[in-house]
Amino acid sequence: MTLPASTPVKGGGALGDLEREGVPRHVAIIMDGNGRWATSRGMSRSEGHRAGTENVRRAIEAFAQEGVEYLTLYAFSTENWARPSEEVEALISLIHEVIGPESENLHDMGVRIRHIGSLGRLSDELRCAIEESVELTENNDRLTLCVAFNYGARAEILEAVRRIVREGVDAESVDEQTFAARLHTAGVPDPDLIIRTAGEMRLSNFLLWQSAYAEFYSTPVLWPDFDSVEVGKAIEAYRRRRRKFGRLDG
Ligand code: IPE
Ligand code: IPE
Ligand code: MG
Repeated sequence: MTLPASTPVKGGGALGDLEREGVPRHVAIIMDGNGRWATSRGMSRSEGHRAGTENVRRAIEAFAQEGVEYLTLYAFSTENWARPSEEVEALISLIHEVIGPESENLHDMGVRIRHIGSLGRLSDELRCAIEESVELTENNDRLTLCVAFNYGARAEILEAVRRIVREGVDAESVDEQTFAARLHTAGVPDPDLIIRTAGEMRLSNFLLWQSAYAEFYSTPVLWPDFDSVEVGKAIEAYRRRRRKFGRLDG
């Protein structure tokens, strides 16, 4: 058990020890490198996305085994629409193809699925398939999987601002809780650990508000190769971090 990321560690005593020993409660992953994985093998980028998608189930199982309670996967960003149309179409049809069978499989694994991002711009069929996967799994409690699909943190923040204004909330009463409750991640603890594969060291519009105190882990391993051994290494790296939340101890 670890503390929510927004909770300062009190002193260096028992709670601090628990934090150091514990696995992260919420891990969020920027699954990058599918394209490079494919091109280095003389394959098409779409084949890389297929290999990346196949790795998702293995990764979810590995994080569940480690005792992680919340896993957020960045699958498609609001900026990814700017890729060539054949690649966008391949990515969208891939998720459409796997969402049904994968939801059943995740349901059997006891995984609860949440979607973060916008359902706008998606076909009615895909929107329904996403909603069905959320409904099918809503009572599961082994691990909550937040699928960031058509997700962008700036869009999410702007939407929260619009909601607050529309609701006529008194400006002086707007605090962090007011704001967080209107994000797509409402009710989900902030991520403790953000992993980015393929060696990049940027957030690319991912969880900008929620990652305020997340630990960041970057690995050169490409997403389709990020297996249970790599999951173990990331968790171990997190265990060695000292989270201080602005304090001197921790
Ligand atoms: C990540 O792999 C998947 C998505 C962004 C949808 P990339 O497609 O970004 O792979 P690289 O970065 O080109 O290798
Ligand atoms: C971030 O990866 C988005 C996802 C993993 C879905 P990108 O490959 O799109 O990010 P940039 O363009 O390198 O910043
Ligand atoms: Mg990339």
